Amino acid sequence: MPEFTPFGALNPALATLGAVVAFYAVFRLVTSLLNGLKAFFLAGPLGLSANVKNYGDWAAVTGATDGIGKAYAEQLAAKGLNIILLSRSEDKLNNVAAEIESKYSVKTKTIAVDFTGGEEIYTKIAKEVAGLSIGVLVNNVGISYRFPEYFHEIPDRQKMLMNMLNLNCMSVTQMTSIVLPGMLDRKKGIVVNVSSASGMQPSPLLTVYSATKAYVDYLTRALQTEYASKGIIFQSVLPFFVSTKMSKIRRSSITIPTPTAFVRSALATLGIEDRTNGCLSHSIQGWVVDVAPAWLVNKVTVSMHLGIRKSALRRLEQKKVN
Ligand SMILES: NC(=O)c1ccc[n+]([C@@H]2O[C@H](COP(=O)([O-])OP(=O)(O)OC[C@H]3O[C@@H](n4cnc5c(N)ncnc54)[C@H](OP(=O)(O)O)[C@@H]3O)[C@@H](O)[C@H]2O)c1
Repeated sequence: MPEFTPFGALNPALATLGAVVAFYAVFRLVTSLLNGLKAFFLAGPLGLSANVKNYGDWAAVTGATDGIGKAYAEQLAAKGLNIILLSRSEDKLNNVAAEIESKYSVKTKTIAVDFTGGEEIYTKIAKEVAGLSIGVLVNNVGISYRFPEYFHEIPDRQKMLMNMLNLNCMSVTQMTSIVLPGMLDRKKGIVVNVSSASGMQPSPLLTVYSATKAYVDYLTRALQTEYASKGIIFQSVLPFFVSTKMSKIRRSSITIPTPTAFVRSALATLGIEDRTNGCLSHSIQGWVVDVAPAWLVNKVTVSMHLGIRKSALRRLEQKKVN
């Protein structure tokens, strides 16, 4: 017999289904809140995070001379790992390496490569790192658009698309391919892949950037499942805004951490979260994106990106006039 409610007859099968869906939604929310609590409040004080020192003598970090990559290099050195720094500019590499050696008394090795390149750079990197016990690989290097833009209006489009795919996707894939066999021989290793919150949902006007970051996230999640039983941790990190040269945001705030604060928090989640937005304020934003309807996220994203595009184009026009 159907029950009568203020909204009409209640179908028992539909009611059961509704209860199951509601229970699942609450269960997901509670587990992600508990995970957040563990990762951001308890992991540090209780020493729950993976101890990177147990995984090998060296850490390799791509895009290691600025922003998030530099913060990973410094904080892994502070934990006692020798650091392989990979970036484009030789001068910046030498400066950061000297800084790290003197501050943390560890060894460093620099490899100057332009990750927009092809196969040849990976042959060079493989030769340079051969024989080193790399316990941690941080695939951080990446580029975004200069400002949000319609796909067909991206300046110098052919070149820019090639560069972005090589930097954001090929580097992560090839670096993992170089380092993973050694980790498997030693039956331990950590690979941190820096994706982006832009990869959590399609991000119109940053279309290709968003798609490359979804690639990084999917690659990492599949590899985590493939290699979890073999002692390898793969972690996908999906930050929202961090105050770096890339984001062009100089001033940090609660929602826009400095690279140092962001990486301190993200490193504490190692071994606890396979997929993380990296810090509490970003995780809260991540939960909102996850539960909000896709159409609403799209609408907000498009309007935000159109606003940023408008101001960027205005600034470019002003530069031309002056
Ligand atoms: N900042 C954010 O708000 C944000 C948000 C989400 C995700 N992310 C992701 O976080 C990662 C790091 O971003 P970031 O903001 O820290 O960037 P950043 O401050 O601009 O630093 C970029 C680093 O990459 C190196 N690099 C740039 N182009 C290179 C190339 N062609 N070849 C070799 N190295 C190159 C730079 O070295 P040189 O100076 O020598 O070129 C520098 O060390 C990226 O994957 C990005 O997508 C950032």
